Amino acid sequence: MPPQGFLYENVADNIARRISSGALLPGERMPSLRALSSELGISISTVMQAYGILESRGLIETLPQSGHFVRRSPQRSLELPSITSPDIERVSVPGNRMLHDFLRSVANPLHLPLGCAAPSLDYLPVKRLASIMGRVLREQPEAAMNYQFPPGLPELRRQIALRSLNWMGELSADEILITSGGMDALNLSLQALTKPGDTVAVESPTFFGLLQVLEHHGLRALELPTSPQTGIDLRALDEAAGMRRIAAVLLIPSFSNPLGSLMPEQSRRQLLELAGRHDFTVIEDDIYGELHYSGRRPVPIRGYDREDRVVLCSSFSKSLAPGLRIGWIAASGQRRLELEQLQFNSTIGAPSLQQLALAEFLASGAYDAHLRRFRRSLRDCMEQCSYSVREHFPRGTRLTRPSGGYVLWIELPAGLSGLRLFQAALAEGISIAPGPIFTSQARYASCIRLNAALQWNEQVGNAIRRLGEMARELG
Ligand SMILES: Cc1ncc(COP(=O)(O)O)c(C=O)c1O
Repeated sequence: MPPQGFLYENVADNIARRISSGALLPGERMPSLRALSSELGISISTVMQAYGILESRGLIETLPQSGHFVRRSPQRSLELPSITSPDIERVSVPGNRMLHDFLRSVANPLHLPLGCAAPSLDYLPVKRLASIMGRVLREQPEAAMNYQFPPGLPELRRQIALRSLNWMGELSADEILITSGGMDALNLSLQALTKPGDTVAVESPTFFGLLQVLEHHGLRALELPTSPQTGIDLRALDEAAGMRRIAAVLLIPSFSNPLGSLMPEQSRRQLLELAGRHDFTVIEDDIYGELHYSGRRPVPIRGYDREDRVVLCSSFSKSLAPGLRIGWIAASGQRRLELEQLQFNSTIGAPSLQQLALAEFLASGAYDAHLRRFRRSLRDCMEQCSYSVREHFPRGTRLTRPSGGYVLWIELPAGLSGLRLFQAALAEGISIAPGPIFTSQARYASCIRLNAALQWNEQVGNAIRRLGEMARELG
């Protein structure tokens, strides 16, 4: 099979094989950029990119004024955080005072944004989107300035439904409701499927926005033990559902925020079996589903659902541009009608200009081309970021290993406070997310979450090195 991927990735993989086979020995000097470029007939910048990847994988190192060398001692690997152990006998109405400080830190444009799960704008097709928007405004000004009532622009709904073919899904445009981003989709779904006082099960830790939505609707959060690799512990869910009625399970099965976990196919099917047995609905937040680093896109839980148990929510905020504020819900029949009514009551409808432009962007095929590039960039950023954490954080630190998405979860050695690190980092203009905002229980005090979707540069590298130093100083 011909090699896939970018040339620099293929070159990096080839050299990695030479290192693992022993053809290149530890401590051996790597060929100079110029020598390898003329040997392989590729540009010097391609060799530089390949060496960058090898460095981020911990296979080679650069010694000042001497060049590149095969690493003598492989970089230490960090253990994964253990499966979490929240109290499943406790349900609480979430409310997090710490969140205010965090949100202020991410809103400050002067802070380096390692706290907020947002990508570098260099990765987004900003110019292309802007030019489509300009054209839509010139050619269809009335449509762009008019209401777009629920369920949303038919062509956009059709394009979203078509994309479900990528996971052999059969969504129809009639099931799709266009929303103002993912948060709106989750808000509307919870409002339609639960009533105040109901219990909703979530991963622990989970995206703080989900906890906020639960609080907003007067719902109780039941936090479930969650593995950084495979997501929620289904045995604990089964046990908890035997103790009390659970109205809904609200989860991020693909490249979750903040653990980056990926629920295996078997668990997705088992969850549906539990949903049938205990009679709860699954609200699936698939916002990172398209952002796998290799292989195929995970099939959403909705793809295995034969009993109409799942309401699928997503958004273009993570995969295309957060500022578009366009998300969607897939729900059928009466549910969709109810959601439409709720949307009308809250925002009337999602913004028209964005819907028109996005429909055109999707129809042009540009989205898939963007996703292919973006996934590679995210994977490279994640590798660089993980490498840097392994290099600079104190011994005993634990680190997740996501296979998609944006975020890294770091568990500092026992006794070190993620909150104090958050404060110390802010004083140096670096924003990170402290662990306790991802729970409604008093947990994850020694954890932080980093946004790894930033284009790697000296500033980001220095910031992670500084975080590691500050963590050591706290010890
Ligand atoms: C898991 C998850 N769901 C939903 C959202 C919010 O999405 P949107 O910006 O489309 O409202 C986020 C944003 O960070 C998220 O991480």
